[in-house]
Amino acid sequence: LFSGPADFIWAAESTRSLPPMKMLEIAFAGRSNVGKSSLVNALTGRKTLARTSHTPGRTQQLNFFDVNGRFTLVDMPGYGFAAVAKNKVEAWTDLIHDYLRGRSNLARVFVLVDARHGLKDIDNAVMDTLDKSAVSYQVVLTKTDEVKKADLPGRVEATRAALARRPAAYPEIAVTSSRSGAGVPELRAAIAQLLAE
Ligand code: GTP
Ligand code: MG
Repeated sequence: LFSGPADFIWAAESTRSLPPMKMLEIAFAGRSNVGKSSLVNALTGRKTLARTSHTPGRTQQLNFFDVNGRFTLVDMPGYGFAAVAKNKVEAWTDLIHDYLRGRSNLARVFVLVDARHGLKDIDNAVMDTLDKSAVSYQVVLTKTDEVKKADLPGRVEATRAALARRPAAYPEIAVTSSRSGAGVPELRAAIAQLLAE
């Protein structure tokens, strides 16, 4: 599934300019700088497919990538904060919620959460939208290479406990690092499984 080409196909800055719904889509959502674009690159094995940056606010549109002609990965702008004007972040947040609510070929949303910081209110707001729209999602802890090995199980458990307070969260948490590659094969397998269903 991931051994073939991966290509950028489309960028949308509003829901009026989305590409046709030809294949299943898998979207990456999360606060600015959490590592969405880096994870798209790690999964596809292409270091510079999605543009990454140290500065929060790099991804400013919904970016669509065709993977091997089989499905589409969607790298989203970050929500919550960014090194750009506040009204821009608000516009992205509206775009994210509109897209997540209205895309019938959306097979799963990965909600990325920095393993060092855990779930924030704004993550819960996005998951509320997903719950209301009956969109399947999974929380993905990122940047686990930045967490001391001994601390990681506690971080995972804290996230699990926070998710357990939600009405309908998918229980499994993916534990990843784009830098070390930890959890990336497992995420690829999860995507393959989804597409096979
Ligand atoms: P926006 O598009 O601005 O919302 O950010 P993003 O969520 O796409 O994050 P991006 O992939 O651009 O990464 C943000 C920063 O985090 C960059 O400096 C990355 O190098 C770094 N980063 C991403 N993944 C990891 C990781 O697994 N470990 C570490 N240590 N740093 C990471
Ligand atoms: Mg990005």
